[in-house]
Amino acid sequence: MKNKVFKSVLEYKKSLGDWHYDPSVQSTDCQYVGRIIDLDFSKIKKKLSNKGSEHSCEIYPEDFKNGKKIPNQLDPYTIAAQKIDFFRKWYTKHNSQYTQWIDNRDELPDEFMEIKKLTKLRFSTIACFKQDPGQATPWHFDVHRAVAEKAKKINDKKENVKRYLLFLEDWHWGHFLQIGNSVLSHWKSGDIYTWNYGMYHLSCNGGIVPKWTCQITGLPTKNSLHFLKNQFEFSIKK
Ligand SMILES: [Fe+2]
Repeated sequence: MKNKVFKSVLEYKKSLGDWHYDPSVQSTDCQYVGRIIDLDFSKIKKKLSNKGSEHSCEIYPEDFKNGKKIPNQLDPYTIAAQKIDFFRKWYTKHNSQYTQWIDNRDELPDEFMEIKKLTKLRFSTIACFKQDPGQATPWHFDVHRAVAEKAKKINDKKENVKRYLLFLEDWHWGHFLQIGNSVLSHWKSGDIYTWNYGMYHLSCNGGIVPKWTCQITGLPTKNSLHFLKNQFEFSIKK
C-alpha cells in the first residue's frame, strides 16, 4: 500500500490518534511535579554569559530535501519538519526569538548542574531559556534529539524521554505556556511541570519583563522527581 502523503506534520500527528486534537476538550495534558524551594535565580542570572538570540523559524540547509522544504518529505520527528509546518508562516525572526544556554554547547553556571543532579534523570541535558516580551515559541512538540540518540544506544525508546520545565522566576503578567489544552500561568519560582513525549505545546510572552525558564531532559530513573509519590518540595542545597 502506498504511504499517505501528509500536507503537514500536524496532519500526520492527527492521523496517529495520539491525542484528541480538539481545542474544546477540557483535558489536563501536563503533570505538576513539584517545586524547588531554595532556588535563587537572581544570583544565578548574574553569572550567565552574554549571548545572542536565536529564533524558532530559522531554516538550516538540512531542512531541505531534494531541493525542497516540504514537511511531508521529511521525518516528522525532526525539528526541521516542524519548523516548516504550514502555520509557521505567521512566525518570523522578529516574533519567535529566544536566548538559550545549553550545557552541551554553552557555558552554564554550576547551579544548573545541581538542578540537573536533583532531577535524577539519566543522560540529561539542561538548558536555560529566556523569552523577551513580544516573542512566542509556536505550537510544536519536542523531539529531544540528543537524549533520544542516547536512548537508542541503550535500546530504550525515544518515547520514554522526559523533559522537566522549571520556572526560574515567579509568574509575571503576559507570561504563559500551553501544553496540549492545559494553560499554565501564575507559577512560582521553582515550579516544575512535565508532559508526555510528543505532546504539542507553546510559550508566549505578551508581558513587560523577560520570561526565564529552564528545561532538563533525560531518561527517567525510578527516583526521578515525577515518580515521587506525595513529595512536591525539593531542595538543591541538601
Ligand atoms: Fe518544546
